[in-house]
Amino acid sequence: MKSPLRIQTHPNLKIVFLTLLLVFSLVAPVWAADLEKGAQVFDTTCAGCHINGGNIVRRGKTLKQKALERNGYATVEAIATIVANGKANMSAYKERLTPEEIENVAHYVLQRALENWQ
Ligand code: HEC
Repeated sequence: MKSPLRIQTHPNLKIVFLTLLLVFSLVAPVWAADLEKGAQVFDTTCAGCHINGGNIVRRGKTLKQKALERNGYATVEAIATIVANGKANMSAYKERLTPEEIENVAHYVLQRALENWQ
């Protein structure tokens, strides 16, 4: 016989589920691609001085989580700013990298710091 309740709730749940699935499948690859592109920028542009998240020029100014926090660089915005404008012996990259590349490499640095560059 008819069971209107089941027939009505089932499609709704399906729509909610499919929407969530769509959102995650759209967002996840973008996030992964950002980090992958950030890694490429890091390897070609930053690793010369910051290999393994260190700093061969200024020992205390590494990209490790503790140093980033101590020196005020533990956010994507702060890292993007120092990359764009440079500071002391670190040159500015706003002429050489696109805003997107700067954003990607900042995400990458923060992510690696959270993983302790392991
Ligand atoms: C020529 C060497 C060199 C290169 C290449 C370089 N940096 Fe730096 N970086 C430095 C130096 C030196 C400092 C310390 C600046 C200061 O005196 O505060 C620094 C500081 C930083 C800091 C702040 C760290 C802290 O704990 O204070 C971040 C974040 C950073 N660099 C990210 C990057 C990224 C990302 C790139 C690549 C786009 C890059 N750097 C390329 C030399 C370099």
